Amino acid sequence: MVSVGSLTSSCGSGTIRLRDGRRVWRLGLAPHQLADCGALTTDGSTTGAVGKPRVGGVSLRGLACEVPPSGTSNNPVVLDLFCGAGGMSLGFERAGYRIGLGVDRDPQACETHAYNFGNRSVQADLAEIGDPEGFVRRHGVQRVDVIVAGPPCQGFSRVGRGKLRDLKKDAGYIHDPRNQCYKDFIRFVDGLKPAYFVLENVPDMAFYSDGEGSLVDKMLNALAELGYCGGHDGRPAWGILSAEDYGVPQTRRRLFIAGSNRDREIDWPPEPTHRGSPVTVWDAIGDLPIIAHGCRIDEMPYEARDDLSDYQQIMRDGAGYVLFNHQTRWHNQQDLHAFAWMPEGWKYVDLPERFKRYRDDIFKDKYRKLYRDRPSWTIEAHIGKDTYRHIYPAGLGDPEPPRTISVREAARLQSFPDRFRFRGAFTKQFCQVGNAVPPLLAKAVAAAIRRGVVAGLAESLSPEQDPEAVAGGRMSKWGLEH
Ligand SMILES: C[S@@+](CC[C@H](N)C(=O)[O-])C[C@H]1O[C@@H](n2cnc3c(N)ncnc32)[C@H](O)[C@@H]1O
Repeated sequence: MVSVGSLTSSCGSGTIRLRDGRRVWRLGLAPHQLADCGALTTDGSTTGAVGKPRVGGVSLRGLACEVPPSGTSNNPVVLDLFCGAGGMSLGFERAGYRIGLGVDRDPQACETHAYNFGNRSVQADLAEIGDPEGFVRRHGVQRVDVIVAGPPCQGFSRVGRGKLRDLKKDAGYIHDPRNQCYKDFIRFVDGLKPAYFVLENVPDMAFYSDGEGSLVDKMLNALAELGYCGGHDGRPAWGILSAEDYGVPQTRRRLFIAGSNRDREIDWPPEPTHRGSPVTVWDAIGDLPIIAHGCRIDEMPYEARDDLSDYQQIMRDGAGYVLFNHQTRWHNQQDLHAFAWMPEGWKYVDLPERFKRYRDDIFKDKYRKLYRDRPSWTIEAHIGKDTYRHIYPAGLGDPEPPRTISVREAARLQSFPDRFRFRGAFTKQFCQVGNAVPPLLAKAVAAAIRRGVVAGLAESLSPEQDPEAVAGGRMSKWGLEH
């Protein structure tokens, strides 16, 4: 048994760093349970001052797992604007990038990002940052190779081609402040001149016009003027990607724009890996512990219910035996009867009258029960308000009681692995999940541009530049060492 270091701090979050500074381990334990730890050994037990193989009544054996730090020092550095919980950050990290900084104005989203990305997160309103270069330097980031951004999309989400003509006259729509965030993104690209950028939004952004032509067109022109290309027409590449084609158990479609000031043509779109054979809801969540509605236990033991599917194995990678965020909403008896009675795929409008308590001409799909053997429909930020559109696929006679999905199940359907923990209020956790870019989709995009990014990095990194200074070694608002 070899001692690999000592547990030095619990960071108030269950994340600990070994004294040798090389590894970060995450335990499924509350900070107070870690207080008495001695040295941590390679097999996950403790020795040394305290020398207990059990901490806080829980065995450490097999509980600890190594979590890769956010890329190694010479990996390309990413600045994630409007980072939310960090779906985009996670995808890029998994594709071999280093997360330099995530910025978001929402404190709870920042808390989640900070927890999962070694505290590389700042809470700030991007519209108020006048000097992007000064801002990132003040936060310890010396260079930015890639800017990724997922500005808010609610303002775009109510249009379709058919509605566009009416909306062009609607001042509330044209001047919706949520639709102006792209300007902050362009300002950051202009100020920091990263080799690459990736912007994500809802497909409806392609239909949005502020009265002077399509917004996507305007953005592509503005970014081309800044020297960014990558598409066939000399402007950045763009297109709409389906998450299910990249192994996400969800039929989510999102618009991406990717540009480079180095690559004439980006390898776009990323090669689909799962077209025609999508991951299903049951592949994604069928192993998770059986719980009831109104379950508010934030940390529970994980034990697989059956052999794990390929997808579940990916989701379990790096997770300990403690499962986080498997919490559900409370529902009244009438709803629970309806949930139990509904066959998979049914909507509110399909229910017999005795189950209805809303007008079914307005609330046609207020309730919707997931299919086990198909991908989920889109998980939206609205899931922070209610989960009725994602009813758990169990029926009368099944061992699982009627309920809507848990935060962890929503996270699985978005391809967040179990080691990724959501912080903040329960409803905010749902919101963070629904807002996120599915990490596996982000990873596919990140991998598609990686060769070009790395080539650009090798060209521009001067030999005397200290790659360790690229990102890190600072304290953020969250006051945690990393
Ligand atoms: C669609 S979500 C981003 C999700 C993220 N890309 C992910 O993958 O998890 C949009 C985020 O923009 C943030 N936001 C909106 N306006 C902002 C502003 N002016 N400055 C900073 N963040 C902002 C919201 O708090 C929200 O978290």
